[in-house]
Amino acid sequence: MQNVTVAAHPLAGHLLADLRRVGTPPERYRGVATRLASVLALEATASLPTVTEEVETPLTTTTVHRLGRPVVAVPILRAGLGMLTAVTDMFPDVGVGYVGLERDEQTLQPTEYYFKTPELSGAHVLLLDPMLATGGSAAFAANLLRERGATDLTLVCVIAAPEGIERLTTEDPDISIVTAAIDEKLNDVGYIVPGLGDFGDRLFGTF
Ligand code: PRP
Ligand code: URA
Repeated sequence: MQNVTVAAHPLAGHLLADLRRVGTPPERYRGVATRLASVLALEATASLPTVTEEVETPLTTTTVHRLGRPVVAVPILRAGLGMLTAVTDMFPDVGVGYVGLERDEQTLQPTEYYFKTPELSGAHVLLLDPMLATGGSAAFAANLLRERGATDLTLVCVIAAPEGIERLTTEDPDISIVTAAIDEKLNDVGYIVPGLGDFGDRLFGTF
């Protein structure tokens, strides 16, 4: 799958183990989610273009390489919020947009309740949503971002289901996906198996 990168760093699997474990409480969940999102955000920005500059060190002049493209992070509310701090800490200049979507538990269709972003054209846009299940939410959000001018778009997620990868890359063939794991399948109510349950509920303690 040429659009999909599974983070190879052993810390990704180590942290994901904590997120999967049923007994991990929300206060621990939030910290682990942030640390895992940092690993994934590094992977998702590994090919950012750089620009070359000259700087004066205390000893001499040397050539340095600085980030050459603005980064914009767009969490899908609400679970994507659990990944945002990782990106804003690592890229303090980042622009932040929000897409508010909620998946109907019966139909599994996403409904939009909020959408606001900074300028997206020319930016490296990171769409943040921990769970790529049917792919309906990510595909819906990606389409909104494309309409707003996003050309360089990456979904950063914690777990992807094969069904979601197939749908998202069919609807948006140019999107990149960075994930910590590709799981086996969806169950008959649209949850990822083996998965980790409902990420938003576990993050915010809404059981
Ligand atoms: C979850 C998750 C994704 C979506 C994935 O959100 O955070 O946004 O489901 O499912 P899909 O790929 O089948 O669309 P949910 O709608 O439960 O909202 P929440 O973030 O408010 O918990
Ligand atoms: N959303 C979640 O939070 N978990 C799933 O397994 C599927 C969608």
